[in-house]
Amino acid sequence: MSQNPSPRQIVQQQLPKQAQPGPQASAFAPSNIALCKYWGKRDKALNLPINPSLSVSLGQLGSRTELSPIDGAEDRVILNGEVQSLEGGFAAKVVSFLDLFRQPGSPRLQVDTHNNIPTAAGLASSASGFAALMLAVDKLYNFGLSPEQLSAFARLGSGSASRSIFEGFVEWQMGVRDDGMDSHARPLAQSWPNFRIGLLTLTSAAKSVGSRAGMQRTVDTAHLYQSWPLQAAADLERIHQAIEQQDFELLGATAEQNALSMHATMIASWPPLLYWQPESVAAMQQVWALREQGLPLYFTMDAGPNLKLLFQGQDQQAVLKAFPSLQVVAPFEAA
Ligand code: DP6
Repeated sequence: MSQNPSPRQIVQQQLPKQAQPGPQASAFAPSNIALCKYWGKRDKALNLPINPSLSVSLGQLGSRTELSPIDGAEDRVILNGEVQSLEGGFAAKVVSFLDLFRQPGSPRLQVDTHNNIPTAAGLASSASGFAALMLAVDKLYNFGLSPEQLSAFARLGSGSASRSIFEGFVEWQMGVRDDGMDSHARPLAQSWPNFRIGLLTLTSAAKSVGSRAGMQRTVDTAHLYQSWPLQAAADLERIHQAIEQQDFELLGATAEQNALSMHATMIASWPPLLYWQPESVAAMQQVWALREQGLPLYFTMDAGPNLKLLFQGQDQQAVLKAFPSLQVVAPFEAA
């Protein structure tokens, strides 16, 4: 068992003592796609990762969350206009997250969240959701937390949320401290205006095992997982180099191999975790065929059946011709 302090103790130690809630606060955070994935935790309660990861934030695509104090004994969580049951799922996680920051007896809150991420695109809304919630909490109570604290605290909601605090390329350093306060993300200085991500929605079938349970199963049961931290460390270095040198082929190839390596560890778990559907494999083969023909096109995938395509602006027409339903994001283009 972990001897670490609890998430609430850690948060309470860092908060300014005199914070007063205001009448209302609202914040936006982008979704993000990892090019070097976060997969596996060294501490489950604090979402401390086994490996560092690197992502790109999706600009205008993400979550907007509005917080306001309400009368009553319970919080109210609204997701895309629908009041959620507090019994489980997203709303229960939201209430536990809010409890990290407030004192017993302080007013309950209404949490109104809108995701503009295409439904069924298989993008984790928990990353942008917890990052937006963290930013809104900071504003509502006027905490004035630093970007590093905001990122480390967003991690307590969902690991990948630590990266959604920032725009552009973002690295989440794993940290070494027991309280995890050095396990936060930081934005990279480099921009890449030509960089494109295509969201390829292949199936909206709900996944049976979420990423939280999936990564735990992998750590617990897959011997192949032993090789994952080495793969991730090597990939992280290559992705930094690719970003420095704006070497798209190196970036794409490394991100694709990183995603497939992560999926290899999932498949080697027991019971096996295969998020791929026949459509996923067909799309991978189409990407590989186009690449053989000379198109610099790569993919990454998370804990779901859909692909995210990686390419450059000058190839957008060719990519759209092959994948007409693709939703294209230009993460570095001015909003
Ligand atoms: C495959 O951040 O959703 O998308 O920390 O348990 O909330 P928890 O997990 P989560 O895992 C994301 C896993 C991934 C890879 C990534 O985004 O790096």
